[in-house]
Order: sequence, then C-alpha cells, then structure tokens
Amino acid sequence: MAAKLALVLLVVASICSHSEASKLRTTTMTLYFQDWSAGPNATVIPITGLPGRLWSFFSFGTVFCTDDPITEGLDKASPEIARAQGIYVTSALDGSNTHVLISIVFTNSKYNGSTLEVQGASRQIDNVREVAVVAGTGKFRYARGYATFETVYLDMSLAYSVIQCNVTVKHY
Ligand SMILES: *[C@@H]1O[C@H](CO)[C@@H](O)[C@H](O)[C@H]1NC(C)=O
Ligand SMILES: *[C@@H]1O[C@H](CO)[C@@H](O)[C@H](O)[C@H]1NC(C)=O
Ligand SMILES: *[C@@H]1O[C@H](CO)[C@@H](O)[C@H](O)[C@H]1NC(C)=O
Repeated sequence: MAAKLALVLLVVASICSHSEASKLRTTTMTLYFQDWSAGPNATVIPITGLPGRLWSFFSFGTVFCTDDPITEGLDKASPEIARAQGIYVTSALDGSNTHVLISIVFTNSKYNGSTLEVQGASRQIDNVREVAVVAGTGKFRYARGYATFETVYLDMSLAYSVIQCNVTVKHY
C-alpha cells in the first residue's frame, strides 16, 4: 500500500514538474558593465585582504566591493539600465580565479526592481568568463542560467574597462 502511494505521488510530482517546466521562458540580453577600478570615482574597491600582502585582483583573499553602472550600450553615456552590486573575492590560491557574488539590480522601466543573482568562479585571465545565474526576483523569479563576461574596452591609464555581459536565463 505504502509503495503504491509512493508511486502515485511520484507520478503526480513528475506531471507537476513537467507542466511547470513548460511555462518557463528564456530571456537573453547583452549588458555593459562600466567599471572603474581606481581613482576618485572607483566602482570596484578592495575592502580587505591578507594582512601584509598586496590587495589585488590576483592576490588570494582580496575582497572587493562593487557597484558598477550597467548600460544598454558600450558607450558609458548610453542609458543606464541596472547596477552590478556585490562582491568579488580572489578565491584561488594562485590568484587565477575570483569568486563572483553579484546582483544585477535593474533600474529600467521594463525590469525596474527585479534582480538576477550571479554567482560562481570566474577564471580571470580568460577572454570569456562564464558564471552561473542562480536565482532572480520580480520578473526573474526562479531564474536559472548563465552569463558570459568579456572585457571589450580597456583604458589602463584610467583604470576603466567595459565588460560585455551576455545573460541567458530561464524563468517564469
Ligand atoms: C568623479 O565624479 C565627479 C562627480 O560626478 C566628477 O566631477 C569628476 O570629474 C569625476 N572624476 C573623474 C576622475 O572622473
Ligand atoms: C523604479 O522604481 C523606483 C522605486 O520604486 C522609482 O523611484 C523609479 O522612478 C522607477 N524607475 C523607472 C524607470 O520606472
Ligand atoms: C555576446 O552577445 C553579442 C551580441 O549581442 C555577441 O556579439 C558576442 O559575441 C557575445 N559574446 C559571447 C561571449 O558569447
């Protein structure tokens, strides 16, 4: 009897998950992170690191706090549609990986107040870094997917870079 009930529950559960899955939508978007890593208007700043060591992107244990404007186009003067707020921690002993923990907080009229949660290991030296999108809120409830990051503009003298971020998420 118990076994039969368990089977029925299993069938019901699989029917539910199937019909839920069919309502999932896929959204893709291309965003541009405007990133200043030094200077008076820095948008990514080291907040702590190992004592007695240099705090840098390639030093294990360095923690950065970030609030990058996210624009619609590559040009920093193009409309701002979100902010990238969160932390980066250099998480590989040899400095090769950073752990990304950021929220993409939308401010445009289409997604205002909705967020996407980006989390994972990013291999800093790769041209294209891929990180998971693990969750979302608002228009992106139950979001799951991935995001690629590619530095498409770099001005070392200004510590300024633009990072193209392509997001693919499934959500309700
Ligand atoms: C920093 O921001 C202020 C206020 O927006 C601006 O006046 C100043 O020129 C900026 N400085 C640099 C180096 O971009
Ligand atoms: C987004 O929401 C905030 C707070 O609810 C509001 O102040 C702002 O005007 C909204 N922006 C847009 C573009 O709708
Ligand atoms: C991101 O999307 C743009 C088009 O919107 C494309 O040109 C670019 O190759 C994509 N980057 C990656 C890493 O897929």
